[in-house]
This record gives sequence, C-alpha cells and structure tokens, in this order.
Amino acid sequence: MIHLAPSILSADFARLGEQVAQTEAAGVHRIHVDVMDGHFVPNLSMGPVVVQCLRPRTKLPLEVHLMVSEPAKFLTPFVKAGADTLIVHHEVLPDARPLLRAIRAEGKKAGLAINPDTPVSVLEPYVPDLDLALCMTVYPGFSGQKFLPQSPERIRALRQLLDRLAPHCELEVDGGIDKTTAPLALAAGANVLVAASAIFAHPEGPAAGVKELQKIVQ
Ligand code: DX5
Ligand code: ZN
Repeated sequence: MIHLAPSILSADFARLGEQVAQTEAAGVHRIHVDVMDGHFVPNLSMGPVVVQCLRPRTKLPLEVHLMVSEPAKFLTPFVKAGADTLIVHHEVLPDARPLLRAIRAEGKKAGLAINPDTPVSVLEPYVPDLDLALCMTVYPGFSGQKFLPQSPERIRALRQLLDRLAPHCELEVDGGIDKTTAPLALAAGANVLVAASAIFAHPEGPAAGVKELQKIVQ
C-alpha cells in the first residue's frame, strides 16, 4: 500500500485546520510536519504548537520531520504535542541509535532521514531501530524545489537495503514529488510520498492535488 503524506509547509497557515481536513477527506494517510531551525537548514518553519493545534482537528497520524541541528531537545515537546512519528536527520547525529530508541520508548514511530549527498549505506546499522527511512529528493529547507535526478538510483539502493534487512520499514521520499516524479519514485521502490506544493499549491485546491497524485498511486 502506497501512502500519501501532504506536507503542510505549503499550506495557507491562516486556514491550516481547514486545509488539512480537506486532504483527510480526500483520503490521505498521514500529515507531514516540516520543522526547521534556521541552522541545519537555511529556513525557519514551525514548532510543537502547530502539532498541538492540529492534533484535535484530524484523526490522521502526524509525522514530524525534524530538520534541526539538535533533535533530541525537541523529542519531548513534540511527543507532548501529539506527534505520532518523529524523523531525525543522520547528518546531525554521530550515532542515531540512542535517539531512535528514545523515540520508540515513547511509543512513537522512529524515522531517519538522509540528505541527497549522504550515502544510502550509512543507514545500514540503524535499520533495526527504524520504522521509516526517509530519502530526501531535494536539499531540505524549502518546498517547491525540483526532484534531484540522482534520486531514483538512491531510492533503488535504499529499497534493496530495506528488502534485505528490514522489509517492514517504510521507504519515504520527500521533495519535488508531483505527478511527473511520483511514478519515478514509486518505480524505484518508495512506498510513502511526501508532497507539499503539488498538494497545497494546486490551482484547484488541496483536494484536487491529492486526487491527482492518487491517480498515480492507485
Ligand atoms: C523540504 C521539506 C519537504 C518539502 C517538500 O525541506 O522536508 O517536506 O516541504 O516540498 P515540495 O513537495 O514542494 O517539494
Ligand atoms: Zn519533509
């Protein structure tokens, strides 16, 4: 089963609850929340309060993508706010295991993300501690960027790694996913597609953005 994960980074923040509800009604499986600290990535976005406000407005799992230099600091605040999955970046953690285990000890799903320049093989020691592996298909920081051409090859390598060591671990892709690139990511072995602009900046609204991607996924 392929999951769609709308990233609220491209939502109209003044109508956030309403727009998330539109994507839920259109049949998405989870909501992706991009957290940026202006340090690990050159942009600021949102904090636990956004998760706290969304929590009573949707039944969908809330997945928090921590693009921050010190993710351990934010584990408890996001858990308290109602996050279901926490995704941290390999690039800021000399050994991700203690934090991944702390996430699972809270009863939450643990994800590990790699940037486009990080070799896929770095994930190998972590797969027993992972519910989700995230292959970034743009350099993180902004929505609306182009899917990087090296991505399908990287997704294929990650698919092979997971099939070999952790077939139940989800393979998520994030960045530049739209109706043209989603088929490439799926063919390479992704099973969770994050999309911000293709959904929330769709000219006919978020539900139409979801429907367009669903046609590809089904
Ligand atoms: C990138 C974020 C993504 C981003 C995706 O830094 O992690 O989740 O919002 O945006 P699109 O789908 O527009 O590339
Ligand atoms: Zn993201």
